[in-house]
Amino acid sequence: MSAVIENLKPLHLKPVRNLDPNALPLEDSKLHLLLCATGSVATIKIPNMVQALSRHANISIRLVFTKAAKNFLRGQSAEQPTLEEIEALPSVDGIYVDEHEWSEPWVRGNKILHIELRRWADIMVIAPLSAGTLAKITQGWSDNLLLSVIRAWDTTGEVDPVRNLQGDNGDPEGARQKKKILVAPSMNTAMWKQPITKKQVDILDEEWGAKNGGWFEVLLPMEKQLACGDVGAGAMKDWREIVEVIEDRLGLNIGHEADARSV
Ligand SMILES: Cc1cc2nc3c(=O)[nH]c(=O)nc-3n(C[C@H](O)[C@H](O)[C@H](O)COP(=O)(O)O)c2cc1C
Repeated sequence: MSAVIENLKPLHLKPVRNLDPNALPLEDSKLHLLLCATGSVATIKIPNMVQALSRHANISIRLVFTKAAKNFLRGQSAEQPTLEEIEALPSVDGIYVDEHEWSEPWVRGNKILHIELRRWADIMVIAPLSAGTLAKITQGWSDNLLLSVIRAWDTTGEVDPVRNLQGDNGDPEGARQKKKILVAPSMNTAMWKQPITKKQVDILDEEWGAKNGGWFEVLLPMEKQLACGDVGAGAMKDWREIVEVIEDRLGLNIGHEADARSV
């Protein structure tokens, strides 16, 4: 698959903004996408996904990268721009890494970034989801910013009001409205086929799955030749299909002609 990133350069380079966690407006008439990446090679598809989604004028995108994910986006190749370059793309309103959680000493009254991001997000998407983060999610780990957002997610629908999203009809009738977390696992074929993977994916897809009244939706990997040379299952679902799912869940495909940004 080619990874053409259109219209990316020239850009006004600027440091990744150390955004004030207080500056997370809940009512700005935009749809809020929290797009996250973990330490899988498919992180290099993040710029493509952001660019494709940013054609919608009514979307606000904030990104979270794990420490490992940052390594794939350092400007080392044409398809791997820096976080600064990604932040300059339309509709990107912030990029967050672990250090932002502790950017200033916490005192009573200060907001807590992972809680604010949780409140802000209409939907959270982790694409790609590494084997490591998959394992940690299923065991309740919360030792980085991304995992803390997931661990603090409103799994009952009692804490966060769900804004009315046209495309969100995944809840069984009568169930409480819950905001969703979409995950797109991406790993080496042998990692994918290791028996623990299925157990962990089943937790997300079945036990905590939106189709059963939960809050997770798993976008299963595809088969192809992986970056490491192995051929088989485990590659992240095609980024274009992931974009389509996001558009559908956010209701962006409804009348998108009206809200599409000309790029
Ligand atoms: C070059 C490179 C590529 C990697 N690709 C993957 C991958 O595709 N999937 C995966 O699960 N782990 C991959 N890893 C291993 C993860 O980066 C590693 O397990 C890391 O601890 C994951 O951290 P995170 O889940 O917090 O992002 C790769 C590591 C390296 C050095």
